[in-house]
Amino acid sequence: MSHPHSLQNRVAIVTGAARGIGKAIVSMFIQADARHVVCADLLEDELADLQKEFGDRVTPAVHNITDASGWKDLVARTVSAQGRLDILVNNAGILVFATLEETDPDDFRRLMEVNVVGTFLGMQAVIAPMKQAKQGAIINISSVNGVMPSNFVGAYSASKFAVRGLTRAAALELGLDGIRVNSVHPGGVNTPMTNPMNLDQEEIDAMYHFVPLQRSSQPEEIARGVTYLASDAAAYCNGTELLIDGGMSAGIYFPGLPGAPK
Ligand SMILES: NC(=O)c1ccc[n+]([C@@H]2O[C@H](COP(=O)([O-])OP(=O)(O)OC[C@H]3O[C@@H](n4cnc5c(N)ncnc54)[C@H](O)[C@@H]3O)[C@@H](O)[C@H]2O)c1
Repeated sequence: MSHPHSLQNRVAIVTGAARGIGKAIVSMFIQADARHVVCADLLEDELADLQKEFGDRVTPAVHNITDASGWKDLVARTVSAQGRLDILVNNAGILVFATLEETDPDDFRRLMEVNVVGTFLGMQAVIAPMKQAKQGAIINISSVNGVMPSNFVGAYSASKFAVRGLTRAAALELGLDGIRVNSVHPGGVNTPMTNPMNLDQEEIDAMYHFVPLQRSSQPEEIARGVTYLASDAAAYCNGTELLIDGGMSAGIYFPGLPGAPK
C-alpha cells in the first residue's frame, strides 16, 4: 500500500539526521518512497550507521549548519548528484538548560548561532534551486517553546520563537514562487537531547504530568507531521505552525479544580 503522504521521486536534505527526531524523519521519508535523502550532521559514526541501515537511498554528509559556504557546497552537490532538490528539513538544534539569570552569554550566542542562524542559512541555500523548479517544501523544527516559553530553557525558547518568525517571513516571500515554508512545534520527545541519561520511558513520562495526554512523545510522532508537510497532501499549507505537543500549549490547568490532572 502506498504511504498516505507519498514523497515519491522527491529528494530531501535533513539536518540533525544522525539521531533523535532527525533520524526518524529520514526513516519515514524513505518509507514514504523519497528517492534520496541527504543526511547532514556532525556525528560521523552515527551517520555511517545510517548509511548501513538505508544504503544508497541516503547520502551521509558531515556538515555544520552554521557554515554558510558548507551549505552552498551541500546544496550544489545534492542538485548535481540527484538532478533536483524538493525538500529541506531544518531539524538540527541544541538545547541549554539554565535560568536566564545564570545563562552564560556565550551559550546564548551559541544557541542563536546554531538554532537561528543555522536555520536561516539552510533556507537561504535552497532558495535558488527551489525557485528555479517553481516548487519546494521547507520544514523548520521549532518547539512548543517557540509558542510558549518554559522556565529553565529561556534562551532556547527565544531561539525557537525566532525560528517561528523566520518561517512565517519565508512563507510570505517564498510562497510567491511555489515554495511552502512551515514549522513544526514538538512538545517533549524522548531523544538524546532531552533524555541524555537514557531514563526509562515511565520516568520520562512522569515529568510530563502537566500535559493533557500525560506522556512525552516518540520521534516517529513528530516525523509523521513533518512527512505530511513535505508531501503534496499539504499543498495548501504555507506558514502553518503544526503543534505536536499532546496539548501542552492548549492552556494551563487550575490545579485542584475538576478537569485538572490528579
Ligand atoms: N527532543 C525534544 O523534546 C524536542 C522538543 C521540541 C523541539 N525539539 C527540536 O527538535 C530538533 C531535534 O531534536 P532532537 O531531540 O532529535 O535532538 P538530538 O540532540 O537528539 O539531535 C540533534 C542532532 O542535531 C545535530 N546537530 C547539532 N548541532 C549541529 C550543527 N551545528 N550542525 C549539524 N548538526 C548539528 C546533533 O549532532 C544531533 O544529531 C531540534 O531542533 C530540537 O530543538 C526537540
